[in-house]
Amino acid sequence: MSDDKTSNQMWGGRFASGPAAVMEAINASIGFDRKLYSQDIRGSIAHSEMLAEKGIISAEDQSRIAHGLNTILREIEAGTFTFSARLEDIHMNVEARLAELIGPAAGRLHTARSRNDQVAVDFRLWVKEELLSTAEALKRLIAAFLDRAEEHAATVMPGFTHLQSAQPVTFGHHCMAYVEMFARDLSRVRDAVERLDESPLGAAALAGTGFPIDRSMTARALGFREPTRNSIDSVSDRDFALEFLSIASICATHLSRLAEEIVIWSTPQFSFVRLSDSFSTGSSIMPQKKNPDAAELVRGHAGRISGCLMSLMMTMKGLPLAYSKDMQEDKEAVFDAAEALDLMIAAMTGMVSDMTVNADAMKRAAGAGYSTATDLADWLVRVLGLPFREAHHVTGRAVAMAEAKKTGLEKLSVEELKTLHPGITDDVYSVLSVRNSVRSRTSFGGTAPSQVRRQIRHWRKRLAKA
Ligand code: ARG
Repeated sequence: MSDDKTSNQMWGGRFASGPAAVMEAINASIGFDRKLYSQDIRGSIAHSEMLAEKGIISAEDQSRIAHGLNTILREIEAGTFTFSARLEDIHMNVEARLAELIGPAAGRLHTARSRNDQVAVDFRLWVKEELLSTAEALKRLIAAFLDRAEEHAATVMPGFTHLQSAQPVTFGHHCMAYVEMFARDLSRVRDAVERLDESPLGAAALAGTGFPIDRSMTARALGFREPTRNSIDSVSDRDFALEFLSIASICATHLSRLAEEIVIWSTPQFSFVRLSDSFSTGSSIMPQKKNPDAAELVRGHAGRISGCLMSLMMTMKGLPLAYSKDMQEDKEAVFDAAEALDLMIAAMTGMVSDMTVNADAMKRAAGAGYSTATDLADWLVRVLGLPFREAHHVTGRAVAMAEAKKTGLEKLSVEELKTLHPGITDDVYSVLSVRNSVRSRTSFGGTAPSQVRRQIRHWRKRLAKA
């Protein structure tokens, strides 16, 4: 990619060419900011149209400029464009090629503009588009979860705290927990779009310009709500990138927790789910194995995304206003995180839709570990009027009794239970099964299948509007 033919073969005494080559290497961003080519060209066309409209450049020059820029767009898309590291970044690569194509008129494009507002507008456009496509990807993931939740609204599984069986829940309810998480991510994405939807173009280097430009016109042409209101902030602000990275980090954390659950659920010991062949791999030495690599990689990628957030935070924290070249570091962090996040969401959507749920294994596990003990205590409170603390104590003794007999709570006879409290009757068995346990939890947002279905309806309606 570097076109520097004279660069140093050695260091040492060859000082004249050495530092220049290093300077080029540290300075050039074209290796990564070429990703901004379409935003850069759109920004330049909008800028040139405004300059012509305001009489700052002639209509003929504008049409040459626009024609040249469209040619460059086609060249880049066809892969015939030669990027040069010596020209530093995407902005200068495009402008230099424009000069080759249309001659001196190219030099008029940069009137009333600086690379500082140019890169700010390009990057905002890129992040905005990435946020909008992330919103669509999240909607697909949520839809996958809603389908699984519907299918399994009444499938019982153990609910965990401390990864110890706590109380029975339904798999549908567990899926809906992820719907809540990803719906919050989606709402953060929308908030961020709302906030970044201002165009910095026309802030120029940092102070604005004396040319009679129309910033609202370029803002509109580029699909922004309005122009930014302070030229210094316009070129020094990277909050939109930091926000993208924080949203991505939180979302990646959610995806990573899901990945961890899938890893656990797909072990032969749990066997709650079976991953499809398309999202697992075999072992080169152990033929019996089916590994959840995609889930593990989602979990692994999450660390990288948080790292990108930290790296840009650290870059920005000491910078005086307005632009400093340190800010060129913003792009790799965002591009890397965006690529990872897109893959993670897509992989998870595939895994969630494809995995086979083993309802029998879930049900068996749901009954283990005295998971309906709280239901027994609640029954003692509700039916016999015991204070909860006392009911807790009686239940504890019932668990000890069942444990001593190596059996389940529902297998204790009513006579045995009566030795713990004389008021206990046959009616107690109605709450000791996991099925009845989950059915009884009808409080708003609880795990009863009726509540789960209610939340599914709520989210389907809400997402249809989103
Ligand atoms: N490549 C630069 C960046 O990404 C563009 C802005 C350069 N501005 C400047 N004053 N050197 O930040």
